[in-house]
Order: sequence, then C-alpha cells, then structure tokens
Amino acid sequence: MNLTICAPCHFGVEGLLADEMRRLDLKNVRAENGRVRFDGDENDLAKASIWLRCAERLLIEVGSFEAPTFDALFEGVKALPLERFLPKNAAFPVRGHCINSKLFSEPDCQSIIRKAAVTRLSEKYHVSWFDETGETIQLRFTILNDTATIYLDTSGDGLHKRGYRPAHVAAPLSETLAAAMVYLSRYRGRDDFCDPFCGSGTLPIEAALIARNRAPGLKRRFAAEQWSCIPEHVWQEARADAPGHEYNGDYRIFGSDLDPAAVKMAKENAALAGVAGDISFELADATAFDRKTERGVLVTNPPYGERIMEKSEAERLYEAFGKAYFASENWKLFLLSSHTEFERTFGKNADKKRKLYNGMIKCDLYMYLGVLPQQGNAL
Ligand SMILES: C[S@@+](CC[C@H](N)C(=O)[O-])C[C@H]1O[C@@H](n2cnc3c(N)ncnc32)[C@H](O)[C@@H]1O
Repeated sequence: MNLTICAPCHFGVEGLLADEMRRLDLKNVRAENGRVRFDGDENDLAKASIWLRCAERLLIEVGSFEAPTFDALFEGVKALPLERFLPKNAAFPVRGHCINSKLFSEPDCQSIIRKAAVTRLSEKYHVSWFDETGETIQLRFTILNDTATIYLDTSGDGLHKRGYRPAHVAAPLSETLAAAMVYLSRYRGRDDFCDPFCGSGTLPIEAALIARNRAPGLKRRFAAEQWSCIPEHVWQEARADAPGHEYNGDYRIFGSDLDPAAVKMAKENAALAGVAGDISFELADATAFDRKTERGVLVTNPPYGERIMEKSEAERLYEAFGKAYFASENWKLFLLSSHTEFERTFGKNADKKRKLYNGMIKCDLYMYLGVLPQQGNAL
C-alpha cells in the first residue's frame, strides 16, 4: 500500500524528527511547521510507530483539496477513496481543526465530513445503514487556509504515551519533548547523564532508552493494529525486529529530586520502562549539586515559576543552582525554562539557545557547553 504519512510534533522539534525518520530509512522526508511527512507502506508505518521518539502521532493522509465552502468540503471528502481503509462495519468518528479559513465551525465541518464519508461508503458498499460495530478508524481533518486535509489516525493514544509513566509529578515533561532534549544534548550513552530535577524520571528514562537504542513504542499498542487493511504480521515483524537493534552498555545515568514521592515514582517508572538497572535515582537538593565526572551532560527542566512555584521562588532556585553548577566541572548543561529572566538569575548567558514548546508554554533550551569558573555575574 502506498501511503503518505504525517507526523505532527512539538514546534522546534521538526528537524530532529526528520533526522530520526532518515535514520529509519524512511523516504521523501519533508519537515514543515509543526509536522514532518514521509512516504512509505504499511511496514514503514509500523516501524515508524514503534521507533519514532519525537513524533506526537502518525496520520495517514487520505487526501487534500480546496474547501472554501461546505459544498466543496462535502464533494472533496466524497471523492476520497475511503473504502481503501474503511470496511463496511467500521466505526469512523471525526474530529479536527479549522485554522485561518472561511469554514471555521469545527462541529459543522465534522458533521459534513461524516455525511460525505457515509455517502461515499454507501455507494461503494451498496448499503444505506452502517451499524459501525467493527474496528474504529478515527478520521481527523485540518482546514488550513481553506485547504482541507483528511487523515486516518493510526496511533490512538499519542505516541508520547510509551506505557512506562502511569504516575507523574504535577508538571511532567512530555516524553517526546524529553527525547528531543536528550538528542539536542548529543548524549549517546558514553558520557555521564544527570537530571538533578528529575520529577517522575522522564529525562533519565528517555536517555536510557536512547543509549540502549530501545524502541520507545515496544510496550504499547497502536490504533491501526486493529485495522483489517493492515495485516497483523506487519506489526509482529516490526516488533520482533526491534530488540536486535539494542545495545548493552554500562551506562552512568543519574536522576535526583528534592521530593521523595517523585524519586519513588521515577524508580517505578524506570522499572516499567525496563531500564531500572541503567539509572540511579536519589533524593538530593539540586542547589547542592557537586557530582564529579570526567565528562557529562546535565539535561533538566527545573520548576518554571508558572505552574509549580512562584516566579521569585524559581529565581532564587535558579541562582542557587547556578552557583552549584558553575562550581562543578566537566558538565555541559541543557536546561529548559519558560522563565524570561532565567539567564540573569542563573548568573551567565547561555552559549546557545533553542526555542521549544512544552505543550502551549513557550520555552528556551539554555545550553551551556563549556564550564568556566564563575567570574561574578557575566551579564
Ligand atoms: C518541572 S518538574 C520536573 C519534571 C520532570 N522532568 C518530569 O518529567 O517529571 C521540577 C521538579 O523539580 C523538583 N525540585 C524543585 N526544587 C528542587 C531542588 N532544590 N532540588 C531538586 N529538585 C527540586 C520538583 O520536586 C519537581 O519534581
């Protein structure tokens, strides 16, 4: 089956996701704003579902057309070969978004798309009633600048749900963004890795999965595994192939947090992810950070002062952590924060910055690439 597959992702992560796809040997990879697309078949879909660390979900594109009016939307959907994917008894709920378009009522577009799909399938299957008792195929749509695109959601739960984090702290990092941060730190399992504000352990766990080259989706199921248009063996083969790509190393990955409940949760989550043996979690105050290493990366997201602490409290924490960090040696630092005063309070401008979005929160990843002894406030 020839497919075009679209993977939405966090803004700022498109290039990393495109690189992941090229490493998987996927074809015609195109990075766009907030998404990356590729062409392939059902084997590529299964491989991408199991392996991609930075994609939010995988959508099969059924078609795209101009839709400035409801009539155009109806006719456009009715012309799509939906019967290629949807059997007679499929349930096909519809959801989606209208952005910057003449059609702006999402509920109205939803019902037009459903009506058009029913019309198309009635004609193809010669039935007038669908009991929808079979597999569920979620239709998604976007209408962007008057162009409608209709997708099938192959993932179901978002791909950030790896299956290892039933419990998390109040402001957890999404697993997909955590993986992107680990990629940006260039950690590959050789140097030491540490997250001194580890919360539920997402960053150390993603680091361990990357170090081991373990497929992040191995422990979960995908909506398209229930679809009759994709043979079961495709998924079985992709799953069976994955463990052969794993490395076995002696990793030095550390996570710590001030909150005993977070440390306990992080340990449990690491066990569920099957990487408990690779990570040492402990109760520790990041402002007393003095871990010794020959070479290491600190990858972390401390409280921002938006969701957990007040701003001034976060500033005091950044200042105290900055003092501890600049007194330590041999650690590069990759720190995610939405706090606009981060660099000033931390005590030094970052060597590099990269804009990333943690959900709807605009953040910067502050990168300190070589530690110099502190010479007062450099700003
Ligand atoms: C934004 S959360 C980190 C979330 C984490 N990345 C995750 O995915 O679950 C910040 C964490 O910093 C911890 N924290 C706050 N002050 C700390 C300190 N002085 N030392 C260590 N941890 C601290 C909080 O307990 C919280 O778990």
